[in-house]
Amino acid sequence: MVVAVERAGVGDIALVADLARSIWFEHYPAIISWAQIHYMLERGYATDVIAGELERGVEWRIASVDRTPRGFAAWEAFGTAIKLHKLYVERAARGQGVGKRLVTAAAEAAQRIGVREICLAVNKRNHGAIRAYLALGFSFRRAVRADIGHGFVMDDYVMVRPV
Ligand SMILES: CC(C)(COP(=O)(O)OP(=O)(O)OC[C@H]1O[C@@H](n2cnc3c(N)ncnc32)[C@H](O)[C@@H]1OP(=O)(O)O)[C@@H](O)C(=O)NCCC(=O)NCCS
Repeated sequence: MVVAVERAGVGDIALVADLARSIWFEHYPAIISWAQIHYMLERGYATDVIAGELERGVEWRIASVDRTPRGFAAWEAFGTAIKLHKLYVERAARGQGVGKRLVTAAAEAAQRIGVREICLAVNKRNHGAIRAYLALGFSFRRAVRADIGHGFVMDDYVMVRPV
């Protein structure tokens, strides 16, 4: 099994959005409502949203296993940290080190720009991801509840990992 992590650009937006939809519809129904999944996918993965993020410097990576795209990550520098906005791996490809490779790529980026930690927000009920983050060296910093409009709330833990 060969895992490759490559930079994603404007030409990869449709691919990333497709991966996101398939992962979110498989993973999140146990955690948030269908209506919230639709709402958050539109807010996070519409073509103009991703294009705008790429323009402002958000780094996107696609992870492929044996040349087939299986996951992705996105992050950006945020003060003294790198904020890992997104980290998603298809169910069939999980538990094989793909997520770890993507987090390592974010950590390498953090080292290059000289920031001290990686931070992220994870839904409090996303137990599998929380266990993976703990295994990857993250720890809990605080709980946050954010009103994201249309009656939806993100009920998260902020987790951090030193670089
Ligand atoms: C979280 C996620 C990205 C991890 O990706 P992955 O490719 O499965 O992770 P890896 O195989 O690289 O595993 C990394 C470490 O986490 C551990 N791990 C992964 N999933 C785990 C789980 N469900 N329970 C316990 N440990 C887990 C692995 O054993 C490994 O630990 P090790 O380095 O000590 O062996 C993936 O599970 C995922 O996409 N989940 C659904 C979407 C999601 O919730 N994303 C996060 C949004 S905030």
